[in-house]
Amino acid sequence: MVRQITVDLGERSYPIYIGSGLLKDVGQRCLEAGFPLRSPLLVVSDSEVAPRYLHVLEASLREHGYTVVTHIIPAGEASKSLAVYEEVITTAIQAGLDRSSAVLALGGGVVGDLAGYVAATYMRGIGFMQIPTTILAHDSSVGGKVAVNHPLAKNMIGAFYQPSMVLYDIDTLLTLPARQVSSGLAEVVKHGLILDKEFAYWCREHAAELLELNVEALGYALERGCAIKAAVIGNDEREQGQRAILNLGHTIGHAIEAVGGYGVFLHGEAIAIGMAGSALLAAKLGRDASIYEDTVSMLTALGLPVRLPAETSEDELMEAMMHDKKFKEGRMTFIVPDTIGSVSIVNDVQQSTVREVIAQLKKEESPW
Ligand SMILES: NC(=O)c1ccc[n+]([C@@H]2O[C@H](COP(=O)([O-])OP(=O)(O)OC[C@H]3O[C@@H](n4cnc5c(N)ncnc54)[C@H](O)[C@@H]3O)[C@@H](O)[C@H]2O)c1
Ligand SMILES: [Zn+2]
Repeated sequence: MVRQITVDLGERSYPIYIGSGLLKDVGQRCLEAGFPLRSPLLVVSDSEVAPRYLHVLEASLREHGYTVVTHIIPAGEASKSLAVYEEVITTAIQAGLDRSSAVLALGGGVVGDLAGYVAATYMRGIGFMQIPTTILAHDSSVGGKVAVNHPLAKNMIGAFYQPSMVLYDIDTLLTLPARQVSSGLAEVVKHGLILDKEFAYWCREHAAELLELNVEALGYALERGCAIKAAVIGNDEREQGQRAILNLGHTIGHAIEAVGGYGVFLHGEAIAIGMAGSALLAAKLGRDASIYEDTVSMLTALGLPVRLPAETSEDELMEAMMHDKKFKEGRMTFIVPDTIGSVSIVNDVQQSTVREVIAQLKKEESPW
């Protein structure tokens, strides 16, 4: 069964296909996407994904008559750099990629963000297809945000650049390490928490199946997650307003990633703690305490952390948040749940309130 979602962005609209065994169809899908056979395709992948799946992709592309060049980056966030970006561009030039060529991103969010930025900038923009291989990438492959990191700040150099298609082969997820599975599920349940109450509770109820990578459960979860994200960006492609709700848990989460040093917490782990923090903040701003209880039970069911390590420095976390793009004119902007499945963008959160939340996130026991 192939699930299909359309990201509706006028002339930049594109399909997302989710299902088992889709990698071997990539040649056919590239023809459907309109990538011409005369122009070479560049497949970017990483050192963990390429040995497992690249051969299937290459065989399918060659079978359909494409010329393929590959560039394998070292696995990990450190590859989302200008230096690696330049190396990929060098490969593209040496292989003779032209204006009609396309870049295929086979991997997780790191490969997708880097390869997407290459596609957005090589000769001012060429074709682009996302072939995500992590659960987290259901989020990063949809929406068109592509970027590399600067040593001083994550995702600082980037663009909005939509792919022509997202091809999501669920079978590739079976080789994901358990920690990566939980981390990815944090963004899945986030989509429920912001816009779909029923789906958020469904994730808690089916947590065991999701963690076991049950194909049915996972297919449904990824379809809902992608559909919710697609709906949000369909209304606000360039984050002028409503798209910001996708950042639930991310202000605190990004600060945790920055302070811990990238790699100590995985992205999904950091935003899980951030989402627990947003729910605590909600209670401080007068929302029902049950939001916090339910959020925490959903996250823990999915194997995610909801507390900060006791040694975390509150000052460092606050400092990191000050540098965040979402900090404006002395006040902090937070995405705050109003109930499970609905959130508000609150622009005037006091720093002292955020500090109280951070302090509570460090305590072992529940705040009530
Ligand atoms: N563009 C966006 O909108 C957006 C949204 C969220 C996150 N992101 C970015 O995504 C990145 C995180 O993505 P991620 O969590 O997918 O990280 P990742 O790409 O680093 O993948 C995680 C790890 O799993 C390995 N891996 C990937 N697929 C595998 C598979 N099928 N089997 C075995 N191992 C596999 C990778 O090699 C890597 O070591 C961050 O850089 C983040 O900034 C972007
Ligand atoms: Zn995220």
